[in-house]
Amino acid sequence: MTEIKITHTLSVFSWSDLTERAKEAINAAKDVSYKAYAPYSNFKVGAAVVLENGSVVTGNNQENIAFPSGLCAERTALFSANSIYPELPVEILALAAQSDGIFMKEPVTPCGACRQVLLESEKRFGKEIEIYLYGTEKIYYIKGVETLLPLSFGNSSNV
Ligand code: THU
Repeated sequence: MTEIKITHTLSVFSWSDLTERAKEAINAAKDVSYKAYAPYSNFKVGAAVVLENGSVVTGNNQENIAFPSGLCAERTALFSANSIYPELPVEILALAAQSDGIFMKEPVTPCGACRQVLLESEKRFGKEIEIYLYGTEKIYYIKGVETLLPLSFGNSSNV
C-alpha cells in the first residue's frame, strides 16, 4: 500500500490587501447578487467573470420550483461569458453571497458541479483562472481550479 498526499495552497486576503482589479470584480459580484432570483433559499449569490479583454460578465443564481432546474451564479456567469465571447479566456471569477442584504462572513465556495464547469472553462483556454471568494471577514484567493477540484473527472486517462 502506498499513499498519495494531495496538498493545495490558497491565500487569505483582507479587503485592503486586494488589487483594484480584484476589488472591481468582487464589487461586480456583490452588486449582481441583489438581482438573484432565490425565493426558495433566500441565499443570493453573485458571480463576476473578467475576460482577457477586460470585459466583465456577471450572473446570479436562478432558482426554480422544480428544484434541479435552477442554476448557480457561477454557471450562469460562466456560460454567459463563454457564449458571448467564445474566443476569450476567463481570467478572474469573483463570488459573493448574501441573505437579506447581509453578506456572508465566511467566503462562499462553489458547489461541485460548478467546480467541474470552472475546470472546463480553464482547460478550454489553457489558462488558470484566478478565483476570489468573498466573505466580509476574509477573502480566499485561489489560482487555478485544480485546488478546488483535485482528482477531477477528465483530468487523466479516465475519459
Ligand atoms: N448557489 C450558488 O449560486 N453558488 C454557490 O456557490 C452555492 C450555491 C445557489 C444555489 C441555490 O440557488 C442557492 O445558492 C442555495 O443553495
